[in-house]
Amino acid sequence: MPIPQAKAVLTDIGTEELAHMEIVAALVYNLLKDAKLEDIKRVGLDGYYADHDRALYFVNADGVPWTASYIQSKGDPVTDLHEDMAAEQKARSTYEWLINLADDPDVIDVLRFLREREVVHFQRFGETLRLVHEFLDARKYY
Ligand SMILES: [Fe+2]
Repeated sequence: MPIPQAKAVLTDIGTEELAHMEIVAALVYNLLKDAKLEDIKRVGLDGYYADHDRALYFVNADGVPWTASYIQSKGDPVTDLHEDMAAEQKARSTYEWLINLADDPDVIDVLRFLREREVVHFQRFGETLRLVHEFLDARKYY
C-alpha cells in the first residue's frame, strides 16, 4: 500500500479478522463439545465427526477445508482494496445466511456482531480506497 493510512487499516482489519476466526472457533467449539452423537448425525455432521471428532477444523459449509488460496492479492492497491471490499460483502452476506439458519439466540447475537463488523470493514476499505486514489492522482513534485 502506498500510504501509511492504508497500511494501518490493513493491519487493523487483518488483526480483527484473526480475532473473528477465534470467535467463530469458540462458537463452534462450544456448540460441539457436549453434542450427543445422535445430534451430530441429525444435523449432518457425521462425516465431520468421522474425520475430526469434535475438534476444530476450518472447513466451509460443504466441508471443503480452508486454504490460503482464498486470500487474494494482485499487488495493485486499487485492485486489492476492491478485492478486500468484495470479501467484506461476501462475509456480510454469509453471516446473514447463517443468521437465517440459526435458531439459538446466543449464536445469532454473535453472528450479528460479526456481520456488523464486516460492514465497518467495508466502509473503512472504501475510505482507504478514496485516500489511495487521492494519493495516486496527486501531482508528484520532487
Ligand atoms: Fe471483515
